[in-house]
Amino acid sequence: MTISIIVAISENNVIGKNNDLIWHISADLKRFKKLTSGHSIIMGRKTYESLPFKPLPKRKNIILSFKDIKFEGAFVVNNIGDAIKLCEGEDEIFICGGAEIYKKFIPLADKLYITKVHKKFEGDTFFPKINYNEWKLFESSKRFYDKNSDLDYTFLDYTKKELE
Ligand SMILES: NC(=O)c1ccc[n+]([C@@H]2O[C@H](COP(=O)([O-])OP(=O)(O)OC[C@H]3O[C@@H](n4cnc5c(N)ncnc54)[C@H](OP(=O)(O)O)[C@@H]3O)[C@@H](O)[C@H]2O)c1
Repeated sequence: MTISIIVAISENNVIGKNNDLIWHISADLKRFKKLTSGHSIIMGRKTYESLPFKPLPKRKNIILSFKDIKFEGAFVVNNIGDAIKLCEGEDEIFICGGAEIYKKFIPLADKLYITKVHKKFEGDTFFPKINYNEWKLFESSKRFYDKNSDLDYTFLDYTKKELE
């Protein structure tokens, strides 16, 4: 099973503020939907609560929480092992954040789907430091411009080097 991390990161590593996303790039949301549809998605309780519409359709929504809580239409698990067990037999699963969850899954991940947003933002949540020497860039888009948000962005896909 391939464990893939999917994230949008600013130039200064910010991924969120006040438990929300900071930017809205429609092509990025489309890419997220295209990549994750039909797959299991794993995310932290805070990220899940921040979603405007939930559960995300056509995906098995798996939420990590230490609390004894329930979300209609989603699976809640208390540890990473149980989250992975729920995905047994699947080809690729997606880790959708936030920072706490990314940090715990980076050592287990095989792929990174990064949307680099070419601007610095003020925020309170950061993507964990990654040793990019351990990762190989296997696909890089051109630099796109999103008119609505006035932001430049690039899609960067990495694979863990030891997979080669
Ligand atoms: N830019 C992006 O691509 C992107 C993507 C996703 C999220 N975000 C942003 O990231 C921010 C949220 O990130 P965050 O780090 O604050 O929160 P988070 O990672 O979404 O959720 C943290 C919660 O996950 C649960 N948790 C953590 N480790 C666990 C484990 N090992 N087992 C079971 N449960 C565990 C805990 O829930 P309980 O407290 O319920 O126990 C913890 O409070 C928001 O601003 C969001 O918009 C950005």
